[in-house]
Amino acid sequence: MPTPLKVGTSTPRFDAYPKAEGAPCFGGDLAPAGSLIGGVLRCPHPSAAVLRIETGPAKEVAEAVLTAADIPGLNAHENRFGPDQPVLAGDRVRFRGQAVALVAAKTRPLVEEALRRIEVRYKTHPAVFDPAEAMRPEAPPVHEGGNVARHWSLRRGDVEEGFRKARRIVEDTYETPFGEHAFLEPEAGSAWVEADGRITVRLATQQVENHRAVAKVLGVGADRVRILGTFAGGAFGGKEDPCLEIYLALLARETGRPVSITLSREASFLAHSKKHPFRMKYRIGADAEGRLTALEVEMIADVGAHLYLSPMITLNATLLAQGPYRVPAVSVETYAVFTNNLPTSTMRGVGITQVTFALESQMDELARASGIDPLEFRRRNFLRSGDLMAAGQKVARRLPMEETARRAWEALGPAPGGDGGPRKLRVGRGIASNLSGYAKPGRAAEAEVSLDAGGKAVVRTSATDLGSGQSAAWIQIVGDTLGLGESEVILEPPDSAASPSAGITAGSMQLTKAGNAVLRAAAEVRGRILRRAAEMLESGEEDLVLEGGEVRHRAAPERTVSLAEVAAAEGGEDGKGGISSRAEYTFPPGSFDKAGTSDGNGWLDYTPGTHAAEVAVDEETGEIVVLRLAACHDVGRAVHPQTVEGQLEGGGVMGLGYALMEEVILEGGALKTENLEQFLIPTALDAPEVLPILLESGAGIGPYGARGIGEPPCNVPAAAVANAVRDAVGARVTSLPMTPEKVLQAMRKG
Ligand code: MOS
Repeated sequence: MPTPLKVGTSTPRFDAYPKAEGAPCFGGDLAPAGSLIGGVLRCPHPSAAVLRIETGPAKEVAEAVLTAADIPGLNAHENRFGPDQPVLAGDRVRFRGQAVALVAAKTRPLVEEALRRIEVRYKTHPAVFDPAEAMRPEAPPVHEGGNVARHWSLRRGDVEEGFRKARRIVEDTYETPFGEHAFLEPEAGSAWVEADGRITVRLATQQVENHRAVAKVLGVGADRVRILGTFAGGAFGGKEDPCLEIYLALLARETGRPVSITLSREASFLAHSKKHPFRMKYRIGADAEGRLTALEVEMIADVGAHLYLSPMITLNATLLAQGPYRVPAVSVETYAVFTNNLPTSTMRGVGITQVTFALESQMDELARASGIDPLEFRRRNFLRSGDLMAAGQKVARRLPMEETARRAWEALGPAPGGDGGPRKLRVGRGIASNLSGYAKPGRAAEAEVSLDAGGKAVVRTSATDLGSGQSAAWIQIVGDTLGLGESEVILEPPDSAASPSAGITAGSMQLTKAGNAVLRAAAEVRGRILRRAAEMLESGEEDLVLEGGEVRHRAAPERTVSLAEVAAAEGGEDGKGGISSRAEYTFPPGSFDKAGTSDGNGWLDYTPGTHAAEVAVDEETGEIVVLRLAACHDVGRAVHPQTVEGQLEGGGVMGLGYALMEEVILEGGALKTENLEQFLIPTALDAPEVLPILLESGAGIGPYGARGIGEPPCNVPAAAVANAVRDAVGARVTSLPMTPEKVLQAMRKG
């Protein structure tokens, strides 16, 4: 019998070897034979009227050419804030790269030829690319109704009084760039028409429930579209908003044939929304004892040409602008502003990455100005349970902030002796802390666990696996609950038509949401197994052990029934086995979008963390080399510790890329960093040693007390590195990425 899975143990993951060996588990795999190839025509202007589209010549080489006029239903990407960007631009384009037409053809060269043959006449309009400029009354309007898409305002306490009480005040402006997910697997998938006319789309997505948005575009009922989710080769928020699934479904419907699309890297960069660039003016004050007295923040986020989930992301930033600290007086003003740049939406950290860089840089400066060690300064200000957060929310659960800080700092070990050497390398250390929200009120997930006739467990849930181990977690939770090994738990892939709905895998909350549903369903199945086995073995349930595919009597191990026998007994005459439980888990209610008002709250819980970085800065070139990064988070409970460590390492390296090299460059709205030659992400050679440190307080809202850990590790490295650079060379870099040029500039200024 295989060894039963145990929560908290790093058993080799079932998906590891198949993925390494090239199993066809991703969106680009398993395209139906004879698939047509799809392609997208994108607009070269940042702002223009579309006067005419001539598709005749293109149709000579393509099986289908679609424009806005051919969309049968709603011509919009719809999300929870309503209809958004048109699927295909009708009379107006608002950014360079907006989709204007779709084609399907027999070969890739024919796709290219068809795209070349589409003739579009545009009349260009004035455009605006800087959000501060876009806020001025005379700026060209990106949409009717003004360029300020959202304004969040959060006030608590008397900020002026707070600054009057301050002994030291520091103030600065911080900037972060557009971010790109750069997942290894670009958008890829297939669609086909079933015998009954339904359309099936198979692709990597963060939510198979996007089938509803696709059905709206097709103008059909939600039951006419089905999405099958594959493993994703990374998503990071870039596969939340529906996009490729709509193109595939439209082309399959039009041609009646299977259609496949695998975007090139260049096309992928234009297809999904970017991480918001922020400009953040931070002012904070502390009294003579080093306690924060006031925080004043003004932020402008560039939304680009379409809203997507910007309202939520800028609210996230607003609510966590105060970070993990007690501040009696807070004022935060956040403006989400339309420009004619690429649209922005969710990317790992969703607003928290940006404010953490600004706040933690400020905390370091304020500690220095106050003459207090940065770790001690933080310790004096960390939130504890019972404290009030910026929006007036009381911290309900245990937040071991201090312990994360102490453990991260200690992990760097004794300070290295002596700088210098021929290249004038200066070594420095820095620390940054963070609170990231994960559980959002009212979000729900369902899962089903059944016992099949052979005594194996079958798990069904629509929760997709982004590469971060969700599938393995469901298997591990069920195996642990039912005493089964990995090969005795079968996970059905996510299917919008058949799986219990778990909603989106995002916001660092799928383990806590779907994981709770899986655990509930498994626990119910366990209860029924034990009840039936007690009858069969004529003993009390408390005397039974469920393990290794059988139930046996603790004192008399020869009294045993197999799970197959239990299933048969429960299933009655037909012997199919009848134990099955469907469970729902819903986060407690509240209103996230009204946070900061009397009827709202923020997240239901937060994940505390601290990173400590050691860097070497080359005084002559300004180059920063990160020597080590220690990342400590309270994960509540690590279901699979090695996977969680992987999140800390991967998130840490992703955060270092954001800190040092990643920058989506737009000039006049045109993407200059078109592919991975220009848009640099860290490779294995760039990645320093990352030391993952897991704290397990058990204080989370997830199964076994787990907290969300998908995004948090990405939020902290930039500030830790900025503070280490400040320590090394006395210069403060306030703009990401911290390129050698910016370091040299800061050193000259300093
Ligand atoms: Mo996300 S950025 O909530 O996948």
